[in-house]
Amino acid sequence: MITRTQLSRLGLFDAKVPRYTSYPTAPHFSDSVSAQDFTSWIEAIPANGTVSLYLHVPFCRRLCWFCACRTQGTTTLSPVAGYVETLMAELELLKAHLPRGVKLSRLHWGGGTPTLLTPDMMRALLDKVREVADFAENAEFSVEIDPNEIDGERLDVLAAGGMNRASIGVQDFNAQIQETIGRPQSFEITRNAVEMIRARGVASLNADILFGLPHQTRERITETVQKLLSFAPDRVALYGYAHVPWMAKRQQMIPSDALPSPEDRLALFETARRLFAWDGYAEIGIDHFAAPDDGLAIAQKTGKLRRNFQGYTDDTSEVLIGLGASSISRFPQGYAQNVSSTSAYQGAVRDGGFATARGHAFRGDDRLRARMIEMLMCDFHTRNDELVRSYGAEHEALAAIYAKVNDAFDGLLRVSGEGLFIPQDARPLTRLVARAFDSYDTAKAKHSSAI
Ligand SMILES: C[S@@+](CC[C@H](N)C(=O)[O-])C[C@H]1O[C@@H](n2cnc3c(N)ncnc32)[C@H](O)[C@@H]1O
Ligand code: SF4
Repeated sequence: MITRTQLSRLGLFDAKVPRYTSYPTAPHFSDSVSAQDFTSWIEAIPANGTVSLYLHVPFCRRLCWFCACRTQGTTTLSPVAGYVETLMAELELLKAHLPRGVKLSRLHWGGGTPTLLTPDMMRALLDKVREVADFAENAEFSVEIDPNEIDGERLDVLAAGGMNRASIGVQDFNAQIQETIGRPQSFEITRNAVEMIRARGVASLNADILFGLPHQTRERITETVQKLLSFAPDRVALYGYAHVPWMAKRQQMIPSDALPSPEDRLALFETARRLFAWDGYAEIGIDHFAAPDDGLAIAQKTGKLRRNFQGYTDDTSEVLIGLGASSISRFPQGYAQNVSSTSAYQGAVRDGGFATARGHAFRGDDRLRARMIEMLMCDFHTRNDELVRSYGAEHEALAAIYAKVNDAFDGLLRVSGEGLFIPQDARPLTRLVARAFDSYDTAKAKHSSAI
């Protein structure tokens, strides 16, 4: 049994460790990838292939203090209208370069708050997406929905456009916590949103909640999880609240002395995790839960769970194209990211080109390391047979690396001829173990710089 002291000494509680939605992670991108690379990577997609498409809407009507997402507040629709026009122009550019015949396996609208678009804007955007590519069979169209920012008319448009997965932000139901994090949202508002979504036959409901919030206690998170379970969500994301007031200035409104200690954070996560497990949810990777018949649970059982910028996915497409300011795309060749500022993004597209500003072209053993990290984040173990077969790794070299990593983690991991395995009680260390395979992270803690 791993003790709290051991977890603490190994760096769990003080580590600013990446969530590894990509490898290398975005801070290691550089300006070496240009709009020209982005264009040629799009043109290289096989015509019979599928892609995932992400559209980013970086606007919100309210700016919640806790939120670390890149988004800007607006009380008027004119900046949103201008932005949607730019997105449509970017989609038009994509259409010009995407090989005919490519289909969409996933369409995701995220933000910010995509549901602050007017119904007309939503319709126009959906029509434009359909001009770019048809949906593949079993495609998924998901939208991030702020329950405070949705109504029947918008949901009608989204449902008619094929939305079959809705993702709502809940965070916590407790009123004192909501007030402290600047995110008022009554239970009735959330319930009403859920009922409206379900009434439109949307097949799948996802909800985001947070652990580690100010004034959060085990009793309070228990109540939040129980209330959430009363909606029988298909998926739940249980993210650890990231308090980064030096980056997300709004978080300065949140008193740091109201935050739970690192040890209490772990207890909050464990409390919520057990409640989901008792209710029959499958544990997906480090921070998701899914009903047993949900695609994520099935993908996990069959070893097909993947990780991308939206978190965990059962999408099998090799290519994810992100449009909109700051969006990141992934290709077999590497990553490309759009310029972050909304005005620079709009300027670039208005000038007739893509808005790629940075990225990373895979080189050396990037793909091998990316896959090892993805395996650890998804399945808590690596699979040597695949690493050898598909990424040119050698059994002896893998064994030597695992031995070093396990040493650095006090032998808490398990190593066999099949791979490196993180046992259940060491799972809170998963991101740290993944970081041991990250050759770009120079800020690695001493113990995890094994390779
Ligand atoms: C981009 S937001 C969009 C959600 C939507 N606008 C809403 O408010 O319901 C997606 C999710 O990111 C998570 N998130 C935002 N800030 C976070 C933070 N500081 N730490 C951890 N998760 C955070 C929240 O759970 C949120 O629901
Ligand atoms: S939580 Fe949602 S509504 Fe609140 S600021 Fe973040 S993106 Fe906007």
